Amino acid sequence: MCGIVGYIGKKKAPRLLIEGLKRLEYRGYDSAGISVINKDKIETVKAVGKIHNLEKRLNSINTESSIGIAHTRWATHGEPNETNAHPHMDNDNLVAVAHNGIIENYHILQQELKKEGAEFKSATDSEVLAHLIASYIKKDFPLDEAVRRTMERIEGTYGMVVLCRKYPDKLVAARNGSPLIVGIGENEFIVASDASAIVEHTRQIIYLHDRELIMLNKDEYSIKTIQDIHVQTTIEDIDWDIEMIEKGGFDHFMLKEIFEQPEALHNAMRGRLDEKEMTTHLGGLSSVKDRLRQTKRIIITACGTSWHSALIAEYMFEELAQIPTEVEYASEFRYRNPIITEEDTVICISQSGETADTLAALREAKRKGALTLGICNTVGGTISRETDAGVYLHAGPEIGVASTKAFTCQLMVLSLIALKLARMRNMSHIQGDKIITALKKIPFQVKEIFESDKIIQELAQRFTYAQNFLYLGRGYNFPVALEGALKLKEISYIHAEGYPAAEMKHGPIALISENMPVVVIATKNSIYEKVVSNIEEVKARKGYVIAIATDGDKTIAKKADKVIYIPETLSFLVPILSVIPLQMLSYYIAVLKGRNVDQPRNLAKSVTVE
Ligand code: G6P
Repeated sequence: MCGIVGYIGKKKAPRLLIEGLKRLEYRGYDSAGISVINKDKIETVKAVGKIHNLEKRLNSINTESSIGIAHTRWATHGEPNETNAHPHMDNDNLVAVAHNGIIENYHILQQELKKEGAEFKSATDSEVLAHLIASYIKKDFPLDEAVRRTMERIEGTYGMVVLCRKYPDKLVAARNGSPLIVGIGENEFIVASDASAIVEHTRQIIYLHDRELIMLNKDEYSIKTIQDIHVQTTIEDIDWDIEMIEKGGFDHFMLKEIFEQPEALHNAMRGRLDEKEMTTHLGGLSSVKDRLRQTKRIIITACGTSWHSALIAEYMFEELAQIPTEVEYASEFRYRNPIITEEDTVICISQSGETADTLAALREAKRKGALTLGICNTVGGTISRETDAGVYLHAGPEIGVASTKAFTCQLMVLSLIALKLARMRNMSHIQGDKIITALKKIPFQVKEIFESDKIIQELAQRFTYAQNFLYLGRGYNFPVALEGALKLKEISYIHAEGYPAAEMKHGPIALISENMPVVVIATKNSIYEKVVSNIEEVKARKGYVIAIATDGDKTIAKKADKVIYIPETLSFLVPILSVIPLQMLSYYIAVLKGRNVDQPRNLAKSVTVE
């Protein structure tokens, strides 16, 4: 949610900042701005809309400056316009601040600062930071101390970078609840809200922790806490390279990420199958093996697409490992008073590892003594650092806002965990063997589904202008129906609903007519016959049925209007396959509608506000 970049070094900051913002554009993209220091002045330029609008205006600031900050915004307080775009300044242009997060007590601070003569121009909560920091600078506090004192006064979340014209060779950044990473180059530093803005410059990074600030000049840095205690930190290496975050010949990141799934799934499995013991090696869980064996209940919490993975995991953990499992939206979990004991394991699933609600749910679970596990993709994110243990997806960076490869890799990792838990408890060696054999086939089976590309594109053409879509599934395929509907909504803006197929008769059936495409996931499993009856119900009301069926199923071809076949696998692994055609269908419809697939309106990749 919103992206920040800051630079101090020898290079031309504005160009570098623009490139960084483009990498972060997926975090938010309704307006953007840059501030640089030119001699003893701060120069700022802002623009509404995409980064290229800002880029066109770059010549209005000193493009030679080697220190600056930049921001791409996703509005929370105040509509997207130039005044509300970051960086924000105080009235004397002494300080410029780019901020992610929400300052909860901004109203009180604003009143106080107004009494001292501050005039607020924007409708944002962030502007208060610039006025407050400037007020300390005017009282002769050095820049880092002014920021630290500001941190003491503010309530809420922030990742911020700060420039001050009185200190033209210093950059300060601070964080609480909003991610901030510092890349270390040769006589230069790049601060950013995530690694994608940094990888092309350096692989060496520092993760800033909550309630810490970092003071940078081009040659050195120092970190301290809000309590003014100096912090020694470790420098870490990131293992992505730049090709991994570029489109590589595809029209959109989403399409690239859909087609990357065989490889991503391979990577999610790599080195983790134990074909001797017919279980899985998950190094990230070894430190908590005993607690996991004793766990009495699993609670999974997540948001969005990750929540759909959680629903599938609930079925897996109960069926394979026989552990009672519950799933809850992180946003709900954090505000009720969930009953959690030390015998519970709370699993947080998050692609980004930064989702504010999931993080808050995690902290609630920790407070109550549960064992906490993180299933994250982005390495070094806050959730993975705060959980007791966890498993990374290794799916590579996911840039498209609509999640695709992270979803299937989450399912892969959850299957590996389910197998491990099951083999620790009740599952036989023979059953483990069957599962491992099936797992190994999955990446190749995903590839086979891509052969239906043409049929899916034809369907997309036929239904480009549909007003509504219904997605139905049962058992493991019910959450897939939810995910299919979500994908379509997110990127095409067509209204879509996912339903358990049998629930259709309790409401959605009223909507069915010849204008209603109904996607039914009807793969061969124990409730296949029942799903076929649901298809009959739709057909009886003249609905158009698109079925996702198991290879070789001839019955379904007679009942549905169109069939997309997927290879056969074990029931609990079917979602990894059955979701693929749904991702593709959404993608092609969105493209035909001329939507901005990678950056759909109003959405953001990483939601670091409540
Ligand atoms: C946003 C994204 C979704 C994502 C959800 C949870 O809404 O647009 O694609 O599923 O956040 O994100 P997480 O990073 O926690 O998986």
